[in-house]
Amino acid sequence: MTLTAEPVRRARRKAAHGPEPAGPCVLAIFGITGDLTRRLLLPALYNLERHKLLPSHFAIAGFALSDMNEAQLRESFEEELKQHLGGDADKTLIHSLVSRIGFVLADFESEAGWRQFHQILSGFDRDFHTGGNYLFYMATAPQFFLPLMKRVAAEGLLNESEGHWRRVIIEKPFGHDLASARALNRELLTVIGEGQIYRIDHYLGKETVQNILVFRFANGIFEPIWNRRYIDHVQITVAEVVGVERRGPYYDQTGALRDMIPNHLVQLLALTAMEPPASFSATALQNEQVKVLESVPPINPEECSSCVVRAQYTRGSLGEVVVAGYREEPLVDRDSETETYVALKTMVDNWRWAGVPFYLRTGKRLRRRNTEIAIQFRNPPLALFRRSGSSLPQPNRLVIGIQPQENMRLEFECKVPGPLIETTEVDMHFDYGEYFGIETRTGYETLLYDAMIGDASLFKRADMIEGGWAIIQPILNAWESGRGGDLYEYSAGTDGPNAADELMWHDHRRWRPV
Ligand code: BG6
Repeated sequence: MTLTAEPVRRARRKAAHGPEPAGPCVLAIFGITGDLTRRLLLPALYNLERHKLLPSHFAIAGFALSDMNEAQLRESFEEELKQHLGGDADKTLIHSLVSRIGFVLADFESEAGWRQFHQILSGFDRDFHTGGNYLFYMATAPQFFLPLMKRVAAEGLLNESEGHWRRVIIEKPFGHDLASARALNRELLTVIGEGQIYRIDHYLGKETVQNILVFRFANGIFEPIWNRRYIDHVQITVAEVVGVERRGPYYDQTGALRDMIPNHLVQLLALTAMEPPASFSATALQNEQVKVLESVPPINPEECSSCVVRAQYTRGSLGEVVVAGYREEPLVDRDSETETYVALKTMVDNWRWAGVPFYLRTGKRLRRRNTEIAIQFRNPPLALFRRSGSSLPQPNRLVIGIQPQENMRLEFECKVPGPLIETTEVDMHFDYGEYFGIETRTGYETLLYDAMIGDASLFKRADMIEGGWAIIQPILNAWESGRGGDLYEYSAGTDGPNAADELMWHDHRRWRPV
C-alpha cells in the first residue's frame, strides 16, 4: 500500500464540497438477523441514505439462519426500523432500503445456501449495477469469523483481480487473548490481504472520539502543553449503567477486562497519547497509534494486584429501582468469578509521557453512564493563595466528554467577586449538541461509509489489535495463575469498588466522580 494511493480523511474534502455518495456496491451481511443489524447497521444505512451518502447503485445481501421466512423478516426489519427511528422517520426510505435486501436463509455450511448467495450477488450486479464490488460484514458470533472468511475465499468472492473491490468488516471480539488474536490475524492473512480487512472498533465511529484528533492537531494551543511537563495524569473512564442484558453467556466468558480494555479504552488512550501523524492517511494515523501501544510497558504479574483492581456488581439500586447482582443475572453462573469492573494504572514510556500515569476504568451497573477522558494538569509551582482563607486551588483539568455528554470542559480557578482573594473552580464549556444541534446517529454511519470508499483510517490494523491484547495479556496471565489479587464487590448503582479508590490514594490522587 502506498501513501499516495490512500484516501486522506474526508474532513478536508467535506470542507471543500461536501462528501459524495460512495461508489456502487453490495453490502453482504453474515448474521443479518441478529441485534447488530437491527439496532445499528440498518439505522446507520438509513441515516447514510438520508444524507445521500449511500451509493446510488446499492443493495444488501443477508446470510443467516432464521425461523422467519423472507417476507416476515422484511416486515420485522421495517417495523423495528420505524420504531427505532421514531415518528419523524421517512417511511418510503425505510421501505426502499428494506426492499433492497436479498436473503439466504440457511446454515453457513449449506451448499444450496452458497449457490443462492452467488445468484443474489450476480443478480444485484445485473439489476442494480453494483459492479461486482462487495463489502462483507461479519456480524456473526466470533467463532464463525475464520471459517466464514475461508469459505468466502474458497467461493472466489475475495478475488479483486477483475476491476472490482472486495472488502471485509470484522466485528469485535477479535480473539480472546493475544495468542488467539495473533492466530486469527495469521489465518485471515492466508486468504485475504491486509488492505481488504476492516477491523471495527465502534468507538472510532463516535464523533467525539474522532474529534480528539481534530482537537489535538487542528489547534496550536494545546500541543505545547500536551506532555509530561504540564500533565500530571490522565483518567479514562467508560462507565455504564446497563448490566449484562441478554449477553450473559458471552459476558461470563469474557469479563470487563477483555470486553472493553484492549479495544475501546486502549483506543482512547492511543488517540490521547499519539504523536502528530505525518498526514491524515490511514497508514500514518495507524503507525502513530501503534507506537503508543508499543510504549506501554508490560505490567509485572507480581505487581498486578497493586495496579489492577477487578470487581463484580452485587444487588443494588439505580435511583428507585432495585437491580439484580451479576450472579443473579439470566444465564450467568451463580458462582461466577467474572469481573464486571476493572480499574488499572498504566504508563506510556516515551519522551512525551514518561512518568505520567494513565488510569483506565470501566464497569457495568455503575451510578451513571459516562465516557470521558480527563487530562489533569500539574499544580501551579507555588501555592500563592494558600493563606487567603479559601480552600487550596484545584489543578486544571481538560475533560473530553465522549458520551452521553458530548462536550469539552476546561476547569480552572477564578477569583470569587468581593474584597477578599477567594478562589473557586469554574469551567469553560463547549457542547456539541448546543453548537451543532443534536442528530441521532449510531456511530456506524462513518464506519460503513469509510469501508465503502476504502478509507481505513478509522479501522484497526492487525498490529493495533495485537498491541491492545499485549497490554492486558500479563493481567490475564496473573489472574489465571492466581497472582492477580482479589475479586472485589461493588453495589450496583455506585461508583465502583473502594479498592479502586485505594489504587488512586496510593498515588495521592483521586478518581473524578463517575
Ligand atoms: C461493546 C461491549 O463493545 O461496547 C459492551 O461488548 C459495551 O459490553 C459496549 O456495553 C459499550 O459501547 P457504548 O458505545 O455504549 O459505549
